[in-house]
Amino acid sequence: MRLLVLTTIYSAMILGAAPARPTFYKDVLPVLQSKCQGCHRPGEAAPMSFLTYEGTRPYAAAIRQAVLSKKMPPWGADGVHGKFQNDPRLTEDEKSTLLAWVAAKAPAGDPKQAPAARQFVEGWNVGQPDLVVAMPKAYEVPAKGTVEYTRFILPLNFTEDRWISTAEVRPGNRAVVHHVIAYVRDPKSKWLRAEPMNQPIVKVAKSDGGARYWLAAYAPGVPAIPGTPGRALRIKAGSDLVFEMHYTTNGEPATDLTKVGIVFAKEPPKEVMATIGVDNHEFAIPPGADSHEVKARWEVPNEMTLVNLTPHMHLRGKDFRYEATYPTGETEVLLNVPRYDFNWQHTYVLAQPKVLPAGTVINVIAHFDNSPNNKFNPDPKAEVRYGDQSWEEMMIGFGTVVWDAKDVDKNMFAPRKPAQPRKPAE
Ligand code: HEC
Repeated sequence: MRLLVLTTIYSAMILGAAPARPTFYKDVLPVLQSKCQGCHRPGEAAPMSFLTYEGTRPYAAAIRQAVLSKKMPPWGADGVHGKFQNDPRLTEDEKSTLLAWVAAKAPAGDPKQAPAARQFVEGWNVGQPDLVVAMPKAYEVPAKGTVEYTRFILPLNFTEDRWISTAEVRPGNRAVVHHVIAYVRDPKSKWLRAEPMNQPIVKVAKSDGGARYWLAAYAPGVPAIPGTPGRALRIKAGSDLVFEMHYTTNGEPATDLTKVGIVFAKEPPKEVMATIGVDNHEFAIPPGADSHEVKARWEVPNEMTLVNLTPHMHLRGKDFRYEATYPTGETEVLLNVPRYDFNWQHTYVLAQPKVLPAGTVINVIAHFDNSPNNKFNPDPKAEVRYGDQSWEEMMIGFGTVVWDAKDVDKNMFAPRKPAQPRKPAE
């Protein structure tokens, strides 16, 4: 056994270093397959495909730049706090392979040495969905102006409760779909109950208070997350889906037909999943402020396990941090994103799920840059408050939590202690 381990380490040392004269087929393609093709293939987020030598060769210099500047693959965690299962960063060997290849004038090499093509399910990143729910017809997005959030209520027609492993939102037209959230509306929820099914609903009201929960979301450049065996989300019989669409106009009239692919759990789940949001709606960012702090806090009411984190802000987002303070008093940084980038709404999947005992406090701390130095800032002279549109702001620390499936009917989010008596009205 020991001998085997030693041999493995030894050969990794020899093989691991970047080859002196790497070629595309033998050395570069395996790196592109594992770290780049998830987005760099037709139909996905990136505008250029790296499936072939011919497709990749013209971008050799740009690849060098993107790798040196760490612009690609995109990622926001600081590399110090937390370990993430979906960390896409290149290893030192992968990096030096790509750089040495570009330096050697990007030779093709021998196609016979190419690895087998990586297999993708056409049009999906979570594998083949069992059910696809689409908007009934294409929505017409005007050439100009602001499109308020538009919602579509779509029936699921489940006659019994179903367990969902994962789901993926596919925008029909990335040029105008800014982001999408697909919610589940429980049969008992009053949310949008008076509104028609299968038709665009444009309501200015931020929320009418009805219960809903999160199924999946789309934001540019962010791959959907494959399911984890044993973990599932319950959708009750009689539930509907609500697509919440944020369209942005781009000078040309356009149409969009967005769909959601649902993968059912293949076995009875051991753990139930839900998405939480630790948020703050009460802030006002002063004009010109270059590092305005906003915080939010949530006390975990029942023991549950955290599996991923998704920080969310808009164009003035500067940095974002999650901390957990455990009942022992110990504090830990779960995720630190030092340079938040609105263009990449990453989900950080914890390499080791974290048990959060009841009474753990999750603090999220963010800063906003409302100064003219922020090149994405739509208006440094504005005082900015919470709102849907991208010139308004948000501050939400999303996360997915799981708990034992035997407690599927327990209200895990009811406050732990009785609420403090209210101050008498004045
Ligand atoms: C999560 C999706 C994603 C992954 C993974 C990804 N890219 Fe990209 N890439 C994009 C998108 C989207 C763009 C275009 C928008 C932009 O430039 O930000 C892009 C642009 C680029 C560009 C053009 C940059 C420029 O400045 O014009 C290069 C070169 C590139 N990627 C290389 C890579 C390489 C090499 C990898 C793997 C090591 C990789 N990308 C992985 C999504 C991705």
